[in-house]
Amino acid sequence: MADGVLIVGASRGTGLEVARLLAARGEPVTAFVRPTTDMAGLLQLRVKLWKGDVLDPRSVEGAFASGNFRAVIDTVGGRRGEPRPDYHGTRNLVDAARKAGVPRFIFVTAIGCGDSRGAVGPKVLEFLGAVLEEKTLGEDYLMASGLDYTILRPGGMTHDPASGTAIRTEDRMAMGVINRADLARLVVECLDDPTTVGKVYHTIDPAIQRQAPLQRGEDLPGGRV
Ligand SMILES: NC(=O)c1ccc[n+]([C@@H]2O[C@H](COP(=O)([O-])OP(=O)(O)OC[C@H]3O[C@@H](n4cnc5c(N)ncnc54)[C@H](OP(=O)(O)O)[C@@H]3O)[C@@H](O)[C@H]2O)c1
Repeated sequence: MADGVLIVGASRGTGLEVARLLAARGEPVTAFVRPTTDMAGLLQLRVKLWKGDVLDPRSVEGAFASGNFRAVIDTVGGRRGEPRPDYHGTRNLVDAARKAGVPRFIFVTAIGCGDSRGAVGPKVLEFLGAVLEEKTLGEDYLMASGLDYTILRPGGMTHDPASGTAIRTEDRMAMGVINRADLARLVVECLDDPTTVGKVYHTIDPAIQRQAPLQRGEDLPGGRV
């Protein structure tokens, strides 16, 4: 019987928070990590590590062959100056999941992708338009794959502790900020809830009143989405 979850993008941010939640409840987790990454956060958890790169199809197939997974969770996000993993990485993951017979695929993208373009301000599109297009291609590829997908789109994100007040909504105009720890909880909620299969959600925390800098029309302080 299939058990365990493969998390891709688990070295930091949302993926690491998901790994923490799943490991804490005793779920077998394999974290797919680049050999060059800082694994400090993961090494504190009871998780298996698989080293590879989502842009390398052979390492992705190897990861799927390394366990008997019931689901894959993809929270991969690129940095400026690196090849974008959003579309080609997702393709490799989707293809490998299908080949390995792993039915469930949860994908974290961003508000502004696909049919949610109208939810983001002009500065978001100016700075992140190309990234959102890549992520949209990834979403489209997954949705056409026949896998049991759920897509979660955050807007702005913080590293603050979980508030417990974040929500998921099918309102395509919903835009806001969410703590990564809360997004991780929503990811696990979707993993546990078969009624979320085939759904695309915007994830926001209505208790956080401020908007992300780009949405406010300000320049981006960091270098990634
Ligand atoms: N930042 C924001 O405000 C924001 C807003 C909306 C949506 N998002 C999206 O939400 C998702 C989660 O973001 P986050 O900020 O929580 O995570 P993050 O800190 O951006 O982490 C990204 C993860 O992807 C991994 N990764 C990147 N390229 C890879 C590759 N080629 N092969 C394997 N792994 C690779 C990174 O590993 P390394 O440690 O090796 O780099 C890291 O574990 C991302 O898709 C992001 O684009 C972010």
